[in-house]
Formats: sequence, C-alpha cells, structure tokens
Amino acid sequence: MKKTLLSLLLLLGLTHYSLSQELIRGPYQQGTTTHSVKIMWRTSIPTKGWVKIGNTPENLTKNISETDLASDHTVYIDNLEAFTTYYYSVGYDDITLASGIDHYFTTNQLEGDTIGFSVWIIGDFGTGDEPQKMAKNAFLDYSKTHPVNFMLTLGDNAYPEGADQDYQSHLFDIYDSILRFMHYYPTPGNHDYDIIRGDNVLGYLDPTLDDGPYFHIHEMPIHGEAGGYPSDTKLYYSFNYGNAHFICLNSETYTWTQNGTTPLKTWLKKDLEANQQHWTIVYFHQSPYTRSSDSSDDFYEIGMRNMRMYILPILEEYGVDLVYTGHSHDYERSYLINGHYKNSPQWNPAINLIDGRSGNPDLGETYVKNIEDGKGTVYTVCGNSGRYINDDKLFPTLHPVMYYRDGGTEETGSVVLEVKGSTVTSTYINKKGEILDKFSIFKQSPQTVATHVKDKSIRLFDIKAYPNPSSKYLSLEFNNPSGSKANLSILDLSGKLLLHQSISNQGRNKLEIKKWQSLPNGNYTLNLDIDGKSASLNVVKQ
Ligand SMILES: [Fe+2]
Repeated sequence: MKKTLLSLLLLLGLTHYSLSQELIRGPYQQGTTTHSVKIMWRTSIPTKGWVKIGNTPENLTKNISETDLASDHTVYIDNLEAFTTYYYSVGYDDITLASGIDHYFTTNQLEGDTIGFSVWIIGDFGTGDEPQKMAKNAFLDYSKTHPVNFMLTLGDNAYPEGADQDYQSHLFDIYDSILRFMHYYPTPGNHDYDIIRGDNVLGYLDPTLDDGPYFHIHEMPIHGEAGGYPSDTKLYYSFNYGNAHFICLNSETYTWTQNGTTPLKTWLKKDLEANQQHWTIVYFHQSPYTRSSDSSDDFYEIGMRNMRMYILPILEEYGVDLVYTGHSHDYERSYLINGHYKNSPQWNPAINLIDGRSGNPDLGETYVKNIEDGKGTVYTVCGNSGRYINDDKLFPTLHPVMYYRDGGTEETGSVVLEVKGSTVTSTYINKKGEILDKFSIFKQSPQTVATHVKDKSIRLFDIKAYPNPSSKYLSLEFNNPSGSKANLSILDLSGKLLLHQSISNQGRNKLEIKKWQSLPNGNYTLNLDIDGKSASLNVVKQ
C-alpha cells in the first residue's frame, strides 16, 4: 500500500512537497577556480535544489536554483571575486538543509599571486578505520596554527572498490565537516577503478573507462577554466593557484603511460609548454620510487615503472619541482634528484643526486634550485593517510632516492605543503600530531628573485641582490626615488632581526650588505623599507 502511494506521488511529482527530505551527502565543493565553484550534495528524494550565497552566514542575498529535480545536486556559481570567501546554504523550496558559519567557500588565488597558500595532501585514506580518523584529527590540530586553502587526494580515495557507498562511508562520512568549507582536487587510484573495471582483466589497458562513482562524484576544472591547458577529460587535468601550477595525472591506464605517443603524454607536454608559473607540482597515484607495501623495482609493477620510465623524463625536462603520489602505504620522501628512470640498482648519486642534504629549513639545509636549468625534483609518497603497512611487511631498507620514511602498523599521517613566493615547504604530520619530516626548496635565478612584493609600487625600487647564493659578499641595488631613509634589514626564517643598515641617497643605490660574512650559511629574508613601503627578497648564504 505504501509502495503504491509513493509511486503515485512520484508520478504526480509531488514528493518534494509532501515527504521529508534528508541530506545524505555534503554539501561539498568541486572544480573551484578564481571566479567559480560547484556546490554538490545528495538528498534522499529528488528535489529542485538551491544555493544561497553572501558575505556573512546571516546575509545570503544571492540565490542560484536548479531547474530540474535531482537527488545528486550540482549548482554552478560564477562571477565570483578571486580569493574571496562566501558563505552559503543549500536547500529546496523554503527548507534549508545545510547552513552556518562552517558553510563557506573561498575562490582560488589569482594566477601569479605570491602572497602564499597551503595545501593538505592525503593518500590511500579511504578505509573508514580509526587510523584514518586519527590522521585527520592530527591535521585539524595542526591547521589551527597553519591554515590550509585546499586539498589534494592521491588516490585510493574509497576502499575496497570505489563503489558509491565506499565514498559515502570512507570519504564523505569521515571528512564531511572539512569538505563543507574546503575544496579538493582528486586523482584516482587502482581501488577507485576496481568497480569501474569489474571483471575486465584488460581494464588497465582500456583508456575509455571513464564512467563510475569516481567520475560522478568529482567535477574537475578540465576545460582550462582554472588555468592550465584544457584536457577535456576527467582522467587528467591541471589548474593554477597563486604562483603554482598543479597537474593531476592518471597512472592507472597503462596504455597512456607507456612508451610512445599517447593522448595523456601529448596533453602533458602541451600543458607544461604553456606553463609560466613559478612552481609546478604534479600528483598521481602510482609511486615511481618506493619500498614499502610495494616495491617500484618489482617487474609486475607496470604502473609505477611506466610513470618512472616514460612520464618522469617529461616532468623533469620541464623542471617540475614536486611530485606527490600514494599507493605504497607509508610516507617516503626523496632527496632533490634528477634523471633516475631505471630500477634502484641503477641509481647513481654522482649523476642523479642534486642535493643530498635533508632539505630541512630548521637545520639550514633548504634545497636551492636554479630556475634556469630547472634541475631537481623532490618525490613524496603519502600513501598512509588511512591505510598502513604492518611492521613485518615493511622493507628493511629505504629506496636509495629516499631521505626519509615513516611507516608501520597503524602508522598514518598526511602532508601540508606551503607555497610562499620562491620557497615551498612540505611537512609530514603523523597521526599523533608529530612533525616527522620537513623540507623546503628555494628556487631562484642566479641573480635574484623577488619572493613577495608587499606593495606593488615597490616595483619602482627595482631591487636586485647578487650574487645569490653568495659566500662572502652580498651586493644590493635599488632605486630610491624620494631620497628618504631606506632601511635594510636581514632576518632569519623565524623573522628575527640579524643585521640592519640605512642609507638616504636619492636615485639608484649600490652598496654591500655589511657583516654579511658574519652570518652562518642558510636562508635569509632581506627587507627594504622606504617611505612606509617595503619589499622582500630571499637571499642565501652558502
Ligand atoms: Fe593503490
């Protein structure tokens, strides 16, 4: 009888008026650009949904409504201001399903902006188990003092097989309170493909497999609307954020990552060719270098080998700075390396090792990368944001490219990447909230690179520091149009003032930084202040 009544109501299209609605999923945010976002959510019964947005939670003045009934809702919001936070609510008719101070979205920073941003990176997380929740909670504690702008996922987003219910219980139910205010850009792993491939043993070779829960749930910026070369496919895509370019590759379709010309490689080369951003960050699932739950040397690891042999040469040719992957269920992080595309026995530090130090800025060992030759990439595996490897399965030794590894029974964690001007810093936080690894890269031209300009009018000062890096002497040139007192200061990375001098010559100034030689080797910030305006450069003593 009830079934008959429901059928009748559905037929009449009246259900959304007469039956109570339930919010099943979300709201969450996808495909964010500098000027647009897609708000997505699921209701128990089809409705015509709406999103209201505004500058405060109490003042949501703009209403964007759907025109058709749907259970899976996607509302596209356009004409937004860049890097601006909007509060929102979702609902139907006069019913609000979700709203409040934690329901907001922030559009992306403009291309080339150097004010800085941070990214939360998680891989192989979708278990729904306690170690996944602990890694999430450790990040949330860390983010109280280190705010994050958006997320990347490294694949295996929903165990065991990437079914819709797997995403519900292992992604949305776990991260729901985060996803309502922070957008994420995904990459697929082999487990996301399990339900898509089904019993098709040749599924790893079939590039036409682009339908299934992973592709229904996610809306990536695939047409160049967030910057980058249009891929026009959800299988791989790119976007810009501030002064960084992000590229998501698909390591799961072996016909696209193998030797020879493939659609993925053709697109990748076009994308890298067009890229003008200071930083280039690539993410995909299968790790080119790993010794953990998986070994990249094993003959059957076709996905890993293809990425290492046929994709990495392209990435490194174009000077890619950072690569993040998952699949192996630990955390591994390489030195600054270049040109290693074979198995680990062929690793040759004399050729492939660009910088064999820790890269840890707290130890004064930040990697320094020459922007002109573009050589040097750090490879990070973060495949333990939910999954882990039991102690007895862990390889006894690290892969030779790796500086550091963390893994073992119930050892989970995640990464926060900070991009600020000419410096990136990547930090690994384990499930206890301990920072177990950290590295920075400072990328510069041989002369100098302005890291961030606090006031755009400071370009008038045309500041240059050279040589940089320098050992004994650091020379400085700048314009002083007014002839007012110019204050020069050298700060360490914590902001502590180490050296100061001032000069009041009008016009072009040339001078040497006094006592530069007395500083220990390391990275410093040089500040120039004139008439209340200031500029900063990263300078390196080595
Ligand atoms: Fe995997």
